[in-house]
Amino acid sequence: MGEALQGLKRTIMCGELRESHVGNKYTVMGWVQRRRNLGGLEFVDLRDRTGILQVVFGEEINKETFEKADTVRSEYCIAVTGTLVKRESPNKEIPTGMVELKGEEIKILSESETPPIYIKENLDAGENIRLKYRYLDLRRPDMQKIFMIRHRAAKIVRDFLDENGFLEMETPILGKSTPEGARDYLVPSRNYPGKFYALPQSPQLFKQLLMMSGYDRYFQIAKCFRDEDLRANRQPEFTQIDMELSFVEEDDVIGLNERLVQKVFKEVAGVDVKLPIERMPYKIAMEKYGSDKPDLRFGMEINDLSEVVKDVDFKVFQDALANNGSVRAIKAENCAGMGRKQIDKLVDFVKGYGAKGLAWVAYKEDGIKSSIAKFLDEEQTKVVLDKIEAKVGDLVLIVADKNSVVFQSLGALRLHMAKELGILENNNEYRFVWITEFPLLSYNEEEERFQAEHHPFTSPMDEDIQYLESDPGRVRAKAYDIVLNGEELGGGSIRIHDIKLQQKMLGFLGFTEESAWESFGFLLEAFKYGAPPHGGLAFGFDRMVMFLAGTENIKDVITFPKNQNAFCPLTEAPNVVDDIQLKELGILMKEEEK
Ligand code: AMO
Ligand code: AMP
Repeated sequence: MGEALQGLKRTIMCGELRESHVGNKYTVMGWVQRRRNLGGLEFVDLRDRTGILQVVFGEEINKETFEKADTVRSEYCIAVTGTLVKRESPNKEIPTGMVELKGEEIKILSESETPPIYIKENLDAGENIRLKYRYLDLRRPDMQKIFMIRHRAAKIVRDFLDENGFLEMETPILGKSTPEGARDYLVPSRNYPGKFYALPQSPQLFKQLLMMSGYDRYFQIAKCFRDEDLRANRQPEFTQIDMELSFVEEDDVIGLNERLVQKVFKEVAGVDVKLPIERMPYKIAMEKYGSDKPDLRFGMEINDLSEVVKDVDFKVFQDALANNGSVRAIKAENCAGMGRKQIDKLVDFVKGYGAKGLAWVAYKEDGIKSSIAKFLDEEQTKVVLDKIEAKVGDLVLIVADKNSVVFQSLGALRLHMAKELGILENNNEYRFVWITEFPLLSYNEEEERFQAEHHPFTSPMDEDIQYLESDPGRVRAKAYDIVLNGEELGGGSIRIHDIKLQQKMLGFLGFTEESAWESFGFLLEAFKYGAPPHGGLAFGFDRMVMFLAGTENIKDVITFPKNQNAFCPLTEAPNVVDDIQLKELGILMKEEEK
């Protein structure tokens, strides 16, 4: 049975007490971290969000209280009133370690069963048990630290945007399913049987409409929903810092947002971000790093060997070059001694990224060893080594294929090698980069059509509009992503604000005039009434907090996340509903799906 407070007030938090408080009487409330009985004394470590305070109970201080204190166990929720004294044996490990509270009165507010997970830092417990008892997991000090960081970051963002003329505005959660994004989460409608709302993948179209309404600058810390396959740093529902600005161009959005990033990283994590943040065109990012989110904390850049191997009589190289592809390589320094087994693993690794093979050249002290010695004589191999500036001891890893496969596989191999070689261990750099000049469209080979690289509302670059018809793949977009240490932190674009261009763009994506109006009519209609030039950006707020808190798991920064199968082990959502609920929605389940 738990005691009621009956008017008892907490007067200070556990973690706040210092030597300057000695001599005063306080009431603290919190959870028992642990209790130790040392003969005539009971020591309780009392924990709340702010830290741990040692409380001591003794027969001498108050016998009745002492006996009651003897009954408390870990995770009991208690209130203690007493006088703060200097500790005889200080504990330098904790901020309150110079003092302790002499417990004069105790209330047991709630007892606790033995918790299924330990309430301690660096818990090593399975994910499902942590998520099932998430409220206990969240009681752990390292988790509480993360959510205090998350709160601080959101507050700084809000204040910064407020100071820069933004209005915080909300947009609907029940919306319309529109094509071109990820898969939607759908909500069946009771009023309109057979019809569905869709949960927003982002507030994209609504924020553009708010610009048409003259709100000038909008932001929102917005929940977004995407029914995607959940890779490491994705969640089905996640949070964006979403914004849109009127009468701006790329530099305005980029300039404002790098100041925002600078402020948040400084004030929350003490990290200095130098401005301006480096900018890199998409094309360069792909060619050097094989990725539009390059990790710039290390080199190992990709080199183009196409020119130096163009006359080599090796079918794999010749086929790649003949098909508009290329032959490219990375250089792993001091790896020439790698064993065959290890190299075979690298070959398997790139095959996972669609490469048909991986050629290698090991520049050893006693000569050159290579998997393609049959095709490249010593002189030709030397040319390759020279081109990539290989030194004795280096290992050169080569992929020949169409460019998309070459970039993907070498980009991934580059990151893989860095990990294998421990290149980033103890690296505490924060390498930001803006990726700019994205292609407007990318070709979807399965569907045999062009797709918007960012989204269908992104504006082409003025100087490239001329190629829209003749060479759509060449058109660059007014789009930008901000990347940190190889992660996409955010992205945005300047939007189309001209109805004719927007219709043309939708035409490229395979919409007929009719289907375009059916899907996006409300936006096209709005363009008719004086749409201002506008653009914006959205940060993945969860990802930002991951960096600020120094965790690599997105679930660590979300209060009640889903597991890798989009399931909530705590509430057991998704789950079945009543037949009555289904009937009201006009939904009939197939027998086999029940
Ligand atoms: P985009 O789709 O690039 O842009 O999303 C913006 C940022 O949101 C984060 N993000 C995610 N985080 C966690 N889990 C996910 N499933 C997930 N998906 C995306 C990323 C990403 O950079 N409306 C546009 C923005 C704009 O043009 O203004 C948009 O949503 O960090
Ligand atoms: P093979 O002719 O199959 O013995 O291959 C000779 C070498 O070429 C092996 O080291 C293969 O891994 C390599 N190789 C095969 N396909 C490719 C490719 N697409 N790019 C680079 N190297 C390749």
